[in-house]
Amino acid sequence: MSYVRDDIQRMSGYVPGEQPRDRRYIKLNTNENPYPPSPEVGRALREFDPARLRLYPDPVAGGLRAVAGGLFGLSADWVLAGNGSDDLLTIAVRTFVDQGGRIAFPTPTYSLYESLAEIQGAACLQIDLDAEFELPPDIATRAKGASLLFLARPNAPTGRATPLERMRQVCRDFPGIVWIDEAYADFATDHCVGFVRDFPNVVVSRTLSKSYSLAGVRLGLAFARPELIAEMMKVKDSYNVNALTQVAAIAALKDQAHMQATAARIRATREQVTAALRDLGCKVLPSEANFLLVRTPQPAKAVMQQLREHGILVRYFARDRIDDSVRVTIGSEEEMAAFLAAMSEILGGA
Ligand SMILES: Cc1ncc(COP(=O)(O)O)c(C=O)c1O
Repeated sequence: MSYVRDDIQRMSGYVPGEQPRDRRYIKLNTNENPYPPSPEVGRALREFDPARLRLYPDPVAGGLRAVAGGLFGLSADWVLAGNGSDDLLTIAVRTFVDQGGRIAFPTPTYSLYESLAEIQGAACLQIDLDAEFELPPDIATRAKGASLLFLARPNAPTGRATPLERMRQVCRDFPGIVWIDEAYADFATDHCVGFVRDFPNVVVSRTLSKSYSLAGVRLGLAFARPELIAEMMKVKDSYNVNALTQVAAIAALKDQAHMQATAARIRATREQVTAALRDLGCKVLPSEANFLLVRTPQPAKAVMQQLREHGILVRYFARDRIDDSVRVTIGSEEEMAAFLAAMSEILGGA
């Protein structure tokens, strides 16, 4: 006899990218930002009085939600804060999907969506991206029967961003919730936050883990009509965003200039690295994110292992359609120079 639900025993569980503690690697495996967060974050944390930790944090993170909404001309009741955007994705599944219900998403995409469906006891409707890893035009029709459609834009691990007009069409045509996961939107040319004014069925989520260099702080944001936010509020843990995170996130969000400057630097490096990898014979998808999906001329798993021997971590997914590629986070200019030198050696170009 087991004490554990059958479907939990059956699932393998989401596997996050490696966070080595034993040795210093150039870490290009988990899409973290190579640059430090805004200096305002350090200032805010230094000024934080530890005596305040005696008390629970603001359960609804009111100040933080007002600042976040203000960036897009929205009031706090259009915003939900989470312990990273992964927390918000969990809240999404618990709010919008019945046990035994259905969740749709294109594939390949962020593999957490599938794990969350399994935990909920929901079925997955997986819809193949086309040969160029773009959304099929009839995705809204093919996703029917699901109450929640996850669309990462830019998508992970492909880096592709579906054109806004196509996104609008999907939001119009799909009869359930369209959750647009914009974890990487600050590295793209445009975004969908404005959709939440036009569509009662759209939620857009963001994270401070990537463009704001705050993966360790854990802060995600979701934007939607106040009616939807109010329902999700009922589902979240009471104190899902801790007091230190609220303070750090407010400081980071207020320093837009810092975030924009580091995002621009990463975008510029991304374009240089894309060109250099193509010169080395790799096929690189055009990316609007802070990573590249790189199809290598030699088996990708071996390339990943050899990079590791050079002290460089990248991500390899043993998954259909992407097992011939590695996903490479855009690091600093120096890190990417070291990565390209190693790739040149591994691929025989040196
Ligand atoms: C598409 C996508 N959504 C969400 C997340 C989770 O981000 P967070 O750190 O906010 O939980 C990631 C992280 O890699 C991601 O790739």
